[in-house]
Amino acid sequence: VFAHPEFDNHERVVFVRDAESGLKAIVAVHDTSLGPALGGCRFWTYASDDEALTDVLRLSRGMTYKSALAGLPLGGGKSVVIGDARALRAEPARAEALFRALGRAVEQLGGLYTAAEDVGTSVADLELVGRETRHVAGVARGQVGDPSPYTAYGVFRGLQAAVRHKLGRSDLEGLRVAVQGLGHVGQGLCEHLAEAGAKLIVADLDGERVAALVERFGAEAGDPAAILAADCDVVAPCALGAVLNDDSIAALRAPVVAGAANNQLAEPRHGELLRRKGVLYAPDYLVNAGGIIVIAYEAGRRGPRFERAQAMAHIDRIHDTALEIFARAEREGIATSLAADRLAEERFRRPGRARAA
Ligand code: NAI
Repeated sequence: VFAHPEFDNHERVVFVRDAESGLKAIVAVHDTSLGPALGGCRFWTYASDDEALTDVLRLSRGMTYKSALAGLPLGGGKSVVIGDARALRAEPARAEALFRALGRAVEQLGGLYTAAEDVGTSVADLELVGRETRHVAGVARGQVGDPSPYTAYGVFRGLQAAVRHKLGRSDLEGLRVAVQGLGHVGQGLCEHLAEAGAKLIVADLDGERVAALVERFGAEAGDPAAILAADCDVVAPCALGAVLNDDSIAALRAPVVAGAANNQLAEPRHGELLRRKGVLYAPDYLVNAGGIIVIAYEAGRRGPRFERAQAMAHIDRIHDTALEIFARAEREGIATSLAADRLAEERFRRPGRARAA
């Protein structure tokens, strides 16, 4: 365990056990150079404790990079609860005990880590965590609700920047954009794209979602198995991770990839493969940061009201950060994914930077 390569990069890793509720969790704080760590709490049926550790370490590190690039005064952290969330929900008393025990563990970190929702946890779960600690974000305290529309807006702004850089266009009128995945974010992205005059090609495993967008925006229904290879100007992966691999990159026809899905590159080397092919890839964790930005605003708000306009203005900055990263990648002859990592690292590893208390 302690030889784990990511382990050494972390500031704090806490293993949590509560016998009464059966809670088994890991809280990982990667870096708090820029501020307290904010990151989701994932509830998952991990095959082994080692798999859970690998996941939480990788995810918390990712949050440091994401918040740094988003220009937030936050570090990176994440927590995972090991177990079967569905079985737990059948026992409300145990669920309450479990999330409250997690809350006490978060409280013991004294603000080093703030928990938010993630795969397998809900607002209601986080409210239980919040009974034991005030270090929870994104719960129903504010007016934000679902962060997906904000994520969608950020992806839209990042996509615009990619089109500007690669195709030299400041508008999207008539541009063909293929969207893979029409969930919370994919649908929101389609609304922005349609409003900007883009032509949509959409695919989802759920045929009703496709039909709804065909009806609403005159979108073209694409083949889910071949949507990434669609004949278009931009491909927007908004479903699963690891979709950019040797095969899909070889089949790509679009000059731009910009979408919401987390961890789109199957392996880091695929960023370089895209560059060699002449495809401009908008780094996923840069363009999908709208959700974390809005959660940060909601968590940090001073007055009773969430400042939506300020949060939106902050999300807008994704556009210019994307342009900065594209220019740097070109100048240095490196992949955009690598240029994004370097910019993030410069921000959180600045020598002499003030460490958060
Ligand atoms: P969602 O679960 O609401 O939607 C995902 C959609 O993708 C579903 O409609 C599903 O049927 C479809 N799908 C799954 N596999 C597919 C396939 N092989 N081909 C075509 N469609 C497929 O998820 P959501 O919230 O829209 O998130 C989408 C992506 O964006 C995820 O990777 C998520 O991690 C990422 N993301 C979401 C954020 C948010 O605020 N919701 C924030 C940052 C990242």
